[in-house]
Amino acid sequence: MTLINDLKTAQTDAPILEVLAGRWSPRSFTNDPIDEGKLAAALEAARWSPSAGNSQPWRFIVARRGSEAFEKIAATLMGFNKAWAPKASVLLVAVAQVADGEGKPLPTALYDLGQSMAHLSVQAHHDGLHVHQMTGFERDRLAAAFDLPENLMPFSVSAIGTVGTPDDLDEVLAERERQPRTRKPLPELLLVNE
Ligand SMILES: Cc1cc2nc3c(=O)[nH]c(=O)nc-3n(C[C@H](O)[C@H](O)[C@H](O)COP(=O)(O)O)c2cc1C
Repeated sequence: MTLINDLKTAQTDAPILEVLAGRWSPRSFTNDPIDEGKLAAALEAARWSPSAGNSQPWRFIVARRGSEAFEKIAATLMGFNKAWAPKASVLLVAVAQVADGEGKPLPTALYDLGQSMAHLSVQAHHDGLHVHQMTGFERDRLAAAFDLPENLMPFSVSAIGTVGTPDDLDEVLAERERQPRTRKPLPELLLVNE
């Protein structure tokens, strides 16, 4: 899959880490089982990410293809996510602990959870896995399927596995898969830069 990975590598204006330039979100995955060592490393990277007051308000549901949990998650996917994501080796739900045991809100939970997923996806990419995060799923249905208490909010579902070929996707998704990645120019992002 070197060709598609090359096409997807960011053309950056300043040099950045290879793993950051090379990370991208595929929709085509091979049907290999997950490499357990690489999955463990990705979860470990998430565990060691920083959080406000070291609150670590991240929880994960890890479901390998073929498991009951995988089917439960796949059943909540919406729209075109339903078509491609269940072919990945793992579906992982990133869950934010939005309040502590006494019901006191943890206001940085979503920020911290996002950061842990950034660490997870970068480690995974470094190890040759790809991660595609999604919020196109039915949150309430997923929370109910896993009996999550009110203070645990499923925020995203990620498809994880080995990147496949765009040829395995339908025409519309294959075309998207072959597009280079784009970003807004940096000056548009810098509100102040003096
Ligand atoms: C929070 C979040 C939600 C996303 N939701 C979806 C989704 O429901 N379906 C999908 O196909 N991609 C989804 N994406 C993937 C983005 O579209 C993708 O990251 C973005 O286009 C940039 O592409 P890149 O990751 O390849 O750089 C999501 C990404 C994030 C971070």
